[in-house]
Amino acid sequence: MDTSSPILLFDSGVGGLTVYDALREVLPQAPVIYAADLAGLPYGSKTEAQIAARVAGLLGRMAERFRPRLICIACNTASTIALGMVREVLEVPVVGTVPAIKPAAALTRTGTIGLVGTEATIRQRYVDDLQSRFAADKRLLRIAAPALVGAAEAKLRGEAVDPAVIADVHDRLAAMPGGAAIDTLVLACTHFPLLSEELAEAFGPQVAQVDGAQGIARRIAHLLEGQSLAIAGAPNRFVVTGPLSGAAGLEAALAARGFGPAEAF
Ligand code: DGL
Repeated sequence: MDTSSPILLFDSGVGGLTVYDALREVLPQAPVIYAADLAGLPYGSKTEAQIAARVAGLLGRMAERFRPRLICIACNTASTIALGMVREVLEVPVVGTVPAIKPAAALTRTGTIGLVGTEATIRQRYVDDLQSRFAADKRLLRIAAPALVGAAEAKLRGEAVDPAVIADVHDRLAAMPGGAAIDTLVLACTHFPLLSEELAEAFGPQVAQVDGAQGIARRIAHLLEGQSLAIAGAPNRFVVTGPLSGAAGLEAALAARGFGPAEAF
């Protein structure tokens, strides 16, 4: 394999950068192309059929154009809906991102876990299955928090986060039966760890936050074991669907992560 063949990280927006950050910890030299489907953002309010068609179509075209050695769908919404289908149609290994219910179940002491995701993610059978496999004896309280996606996108562009958006997530979970006992929060959307400080302030130090980024990074490193990767000389690439103006404001966040300027897909 060409040593410069990249890992393709895909998300609807900047959320997958939380997976990218974890990946750089374990594979700092790996060439990465990060693709943000800004023209399709947000996925959370779309139907299953819309998300599946969009993700499978885009990843097929991106696989042809970029010839990645591995694709990571760094998006819970896309993964819980389209992972199986994408794996069936592409020959390249595909790693998904699914809600970190298993580690949360191992961590909770009260047995009550809050799960915050997009509207589309929290209704998936994939999540029901994770719950019955790993947290059948726990109470799992799920809520959709679409406003957090926009807040995370804005924060990475240097804009202030509206505290009301964060407080609303806390208040809705706390108001659910048993909600006061939540001691573990699953951030089931890759955008949400970008707001972990704000969430920690709202929920307090007694509530642990869990997401899948480190686990996914380790999984990718494991799958690529033994492969030679080009020592990064060129910057990693950040591509977006839709107009390039969608990436305006991200310059500092991208430069800090070793990306060149945003490119149009
Ligand atoms: N980052 C995505 C996820 O992990 C979803 C954001 C969106 O609604 O597009 O679920």
